[in-house]
Amino acid sequence: MNTSELNALHIIHVLAAIGLIGSTFYACAGSPETRKKTLMWSGIATLLVFLTGMRMWKVQYDFSGGWAIVKLVCWLGLSAFTGLAYRKRERASLWIILTIVLSAAALVMVYLKPF
Ligand code: HEM
Repeated sequence: MNTSELNALHIIHVLAAIGLIGSTFYACAGSPETRKKTLMWSGIATLLVFLTGMRMWKVQYDFSGGWAIVKLVCWLGLSAFTGLAYRKRERASLWIILTIVLSAAALVMVYLKPF
């Protein structure tokens, strides 16, 4: 894989992660009529995060590294919060805090790669 392709994967991955996180914040405040559209964009973003992440993991690390498995767990959680935020709006602050915690964990994993 050449450098441009790898750069494209990094850019799409981070952009989609921003979209995924943003959709949870939106879901915590948006009206119920926005649910379908927000869930659609959240679904597209989460799929892109997963596909680009797996591709980079394969190409650069041949699926080795516990840090990427932790990121997978963070991704699973982040993917669930948009739907949960519409269903259980009264717990919006919990979804926001968990989104920040899981995003921070994913960032620590990729930049420090502790294991
Ligand atoms: C399916 C789950 C995920 C997998 C398998 C995955 C995998 C990866 C891999 C392999 C890289 C490239 C690391 C490198 O170049 O050394 C990466 C980069 C990155 N990932 Fe993920 N990731 C996942 C989810 C996430 C999530 C949920 C976030 C955000 C909260 C995130 C944020 C980032 C960031 C910021 C980078 C660094 C990009 C750069 O420095 O250019 N990832 N990820």
